[in-house]
Amino acid sequence: MSEMITRLTTAADPHVDSHEVVRRTRELETLHALAQRIAESLIARDVLEGSLQTLIDMGWFACGEAMVRDAGLPETVAVGLCRYDAVASCPLHPALQARATAALDAGVVVRDPDWYLVPVGPHSLLALSGAKDVSDSFLAAFIELVRSALKRTVLHGRLAEKEQQRSRLLHALLTAQEEERGRISRDLHDQIGQALTAMLLGLDQVLDRPERAALAKLKDLAAVTLGDVRRIALDLRPSVLDELGLEAAIRRYARDVHERYGTEVTVLVTLPSRLDHQEETVLYRVAQEALTNIVRHARARTVSVVATTARGSVQLVIEDDGVGFEPDDLTHVEQIGLLGMRERLEILGGSLRIESAPGTGCRVYARLPQR
Ligand SMILES: Nc1ncnc2c1ncn2[C@@H]1O[C@H](COP(=O)(O)OP(=O)(O)O)[C@@H](O)[C@H]1O
Ligand SMILES: [Mg+2]
Repeated sequence: MSEMITRLTTAADPHVDSHEVVRRTRELETLHALAQRIAESLIARDVLEGSLQTLIDMGWFACGEAMVRDAGLPETVAVGLCRYDAVASCPLHPALQARATAALDAGVVVRDPDWYLVPVGPHSLLALSGAKDVSDSFLAAFIELVRSALKRTVLHGRLAEKEQQRSRLLHALLTAQEEERGRISRDLHDQIGQALTAMLLGLDQVLDRPERAALAKLKDLAAVTLGDVRRIALDLRPSVLDELGLEAAIRRYARDVHERYGTEVTVLVTLPSRLDHQEETVLYRVAQEALTNIVRHARARTVSVVATTARGSVQLVIEDDGVGFEPDDLTHVEQIGLLGMRERLEILGGSLRIESAPGTGCRVYARLPQR
């Protein structure tokens, strides 16, 4: 028995075992080096370059390239230790793009006599030459690390873009706010200020010489001025929103649109109860902006505002049958009103969707999660 054990251990080639241990250790060291190298990279190209370099530095491949496919054929974005000065003069290179395309399309590692073609993302690939003892399990672990680093760069890119969009929007909103203040100030100064001045002059005259007709004129002027003040107040913030809620405020605004511009607006609100103060304000602002857009841009005949609850959210839909537009064609600066609506909704966890095309009117869908 003990003899057999001795035979088995001596038969299990100690050389193979130690070779295996060395390889495993080197694999772990490589993965560790890779993780360190690409941990902080926020740019896809750096991740690709780092992973390529790690494989070559640790001796798994003789040389290689990182390739990215945007549109058309994959292009080389980084080169690792090529024995040729220029990639173009590498005799292995000419067929590479076609092979890389096939590997990316298949989404699996392709080993052909010259190259290991290793897709590491939907559009990124490492093409490696001169493999030395590369195991499948090691390659799979390596790919997994690169893949997650690449995903992180995508997320980071999106976040950075969103951040930029936010700061542009904030800037635009601040400008819009200043403009609105300017407009209110002009309204107050020009309309209300002038009307009150006229009234003061009129009152002076009436004080000297009371006269029925002059008094009646002054009364009319006071009534018009009161209307102006109400309109300015309604634009700023309707007290009816606080007192009676969203439905009453939207109806009030719709009536005002009808009186001022002749556009008929149908309002249907079926909300079970009052919403929270912020939610009512946001939905009111969305309806107000959408209706203002209809008046300014749509030339619509039929307009409706519908607010309901469905599937755990509050939905507000503003629809018109006007000229419509192509939302995707607008630049950021051209859609401050629309972006403002979206921003307000997103702050409360909601969202905005706009459906429109030239000639098909416009539908604005606002959604807020119900609390
Ligand atoms: N209901 C609508 N019908 C037609 N065009 C619209 C409508 N709503 C918005 N638009 C288009 O979208 C653009 C962006 O709207 P918005 O961001 O509110 O900016 P603004 O109203 O200040 O132009 C408008 O200039 C207009 O061209
Ligand atoms: Mg607008």
